[in-house]
Amino acid sequence: MKVLLIGSGGREHALAWKIAQSPLLDALYAAPGNPGIADHATLVELNVEDHAAVIAFAKEKAIDFVVIGPEAPLVAGLADDLRAAGIATFGPSKAAAQLEGSKGFTKDLCARYDIPTGAYQRFKSAEPAKDYVRAQGAPIVIKADGLAAGKGVTVAMTEAEALAAIDDCFDGAFGAAGAEVVVEAFLDGEEASFFCLSDGKTALALATAQDHKRVGDGDTGPNTGGMGAYSPAPVMTSAMVERTMKEIIEPTISGMAKDGNPFSGVFFAGLMITAKGPELIEYNVRFGDPECQVLMMRLKSDLLPILYATATGTLDRVDAEWRDEAALTVVLASKGYPGAYDKNTPIAHIPEASEEAKVFHAGTALKDDRLVATGGRVLNVTALGKTVTEAQAHAYALADRVEWENGFCRRDIGWQAVAREKA
Ligand code: AMP
Ligand code: GLY
Repeated sequence: MKVLLIGSGGREHALAWKIAQSPLLDALYAAPGNPGIADHATLVELNVEDHAAVIAFAKEKAIDFVVIGPEAPLVAGLADDLRAAGIATFGPSKAAAQLEGSKGFTKDLCARYDIPTGAYQRFKSAEPAKDYVRAQGAPIVIKADGLAAGKGVTVAMTEAEALAAIDDCFDGAFGAAGAEVVVEAFLDGEEASFFCLSDGKTALALATAQDHKRVGDGDTGPNTGGMGAYSPAPVMTSAMVERTMKEIIEPTISGMAKDGNPFSGVFFAGLMITAKGPELIEYNVRFGDPECQVLMMRLKSDLLPILYATATGTLDRVDAEWRDEAALTVVLASKGYPGAYDKNTPIAHIPEASEEAKVFHAGTALKDDRLVATGGRVLNVTALGKTVTEAQAHAYALADRVEWENGFCRRDIGWQAVAREKA
């Protein structure tokens, strides 16, 4: 099979690494890819916003299958256009990608199909939103409706904070994403991420993970795209996974199909495990980054036929087997991230991979044949271990062997699970 992978982050490096191990693979291309992905794929300079160019390249190289990593091309309808051109594609349609692209869309779906989530209302102007907040009281959650790079959510502990967040949204802090606002009840519990494939009819549960969004140790400081993650998430017991499938995922699949937007791709469900059970915080319609890196480390099965079955409506014919070990990834980021940081700082050394550990590239480039850091999140040092504690020790031992002066990382990724394992 000839495969084209779209994307350039650590998530796509992990996907490329895993796809490259498939005996079914004849050729792997990545657009635009990165220097880590170049170890497994031929990099192609394609503007992925130019769907006609992507289709022309796929036809020229007789690509059998396209795997789309990030959300932006999905929300832009790249999967629709590729499928219309007769090319099998992993990733939801533009209509189904609204599950990530519009929080209001997802909340309305939950309401229609009795999917557990926080009570909410949608608003197109500030005053009625504020009246609703005053009536409900704090804590309460204010969300810009659209894609806001993970920054559109305010968990307001006071009414004043909530009212200010509403003004921010309607004053344009998140651009068009904030033209509509969702006000949602605060959910109390432990968060977990759940990954599940669907071909529009069938579901295949993958695995669970927990991430660390804040930049600082002890989960302090500003939010980031994720400073590390581990899998599995201990709070997601098999009973909780079963409930999530039955109460959240299955009604989403049947509801989306009934509404004329069948979902094909991966559900990345952000869950709050409350006293009542699992409740949906949000859906993403792609693998998490860096959650994908720990999932790929733990996946024993060949990934390629699983993704292909998802794209071609034959998910009932495949299964996914997982290692019993835990996996943990530590993000090495440029000093200053998530604020301003220097670009093109040299990375002198990256240690070799083994069966049990691997450094994925997220924001690197080659400049005059030398590896440099170009992004905020730059490397994902990922390792397996019998326990999260062991995976954490392996990951940090490897991270300490990376030679990159301008890099930093959190030193406590996995702390909740490590504390549980000690107890
Ligand atoms: P999101 O960008 O939707 O992932 O939200 C960012 C973070 O806000 C989540 O990971 C949660 O920690 C928090 N959050 C979102 N919605 C709620 C809610 N209803 N109750 C409590 N926390 C929430
Ligand atoms: N790590 C969170 C995300 O990929 O959205």
